[in-house]
Amino acid sequence: MKIGVLLSGSGSNLQAIIDAVKNGSLPVEIGLVLSDNPDAFGLRRAEKAGIKTRYIPPGPKRTVLSPGAEEKYVTALKEAGVELVCLAGFMRVIKDKILAAFPGRVLNIHPSILPSFPGLKAWKQALDYGVRFTGCTVHLVENSVDTGPIILQAVVPVRPEDIPETLLSRIHQQEHIIYPLAIKLFAEGKLEISGRQVRILNQVSS
Ligand code: GRF
Repeated sequence: MKIGVLLSGSGSNLQAIIDAVKNGSLPVEIGLVLSDNPDAFGLRRAEKAGIKTRYIPPGPKRTVLSPGAEEKYVTALKEAGVELVCLAGFMRVIKDKILAAFPGRVLNIHPSILPSFPGLKAWKQALDYGVRFTGCTVHLVENSVDTGPIILQAVVPVRPEDIPETLLSRIHQQEHIIYPLAIKLFAEGKLEISGRQVRILNQVSS
């Protein structure tokens, strides 16, 4: 399966995906890495790995792609033969056009245990709230923010001495494990989705 990755920044999750593909644990091909930010370090990571990249200007609004830009993203992804779109730190809300072009085929990783702390700086929201545990979630993307059916989650304990940076760093470590794994489950057809419920097929229960 060919995947496309959309990112705006550092791309450490992209790197985890690249590494998993390289070491043979993730049976997909990264067909295209797309960004709304020409300076995203994730683009450099992709270039270094020999993956096709594109920067497509997002349009005038800060939080969404303009309709014209969204069309260009869809065209680029389709031309690259992408079958699954993976958002990896893409800082814009995905709207109808991309979702209609890839129905049930857009994934996102979010740095909290959803439905707690959707939106921006979720690790800081968790710290400010005083929870004992937070973590990360891979979910399917729907037409609203951070709400789609949940595929995988990983829990990260909050330590008394944590500051936002230390907590985020431990959340990232877990993201880099569960995102490649969720993509693998999707690519291997091991996810059965019914409404909000996602069943992982052939899962051995302990
Ligand atoms: C991650 O924390 C992810 O959960 C969120 O954006 C961040 C991207 O980090 N959606 P990176 O660019 O992959 O390092």
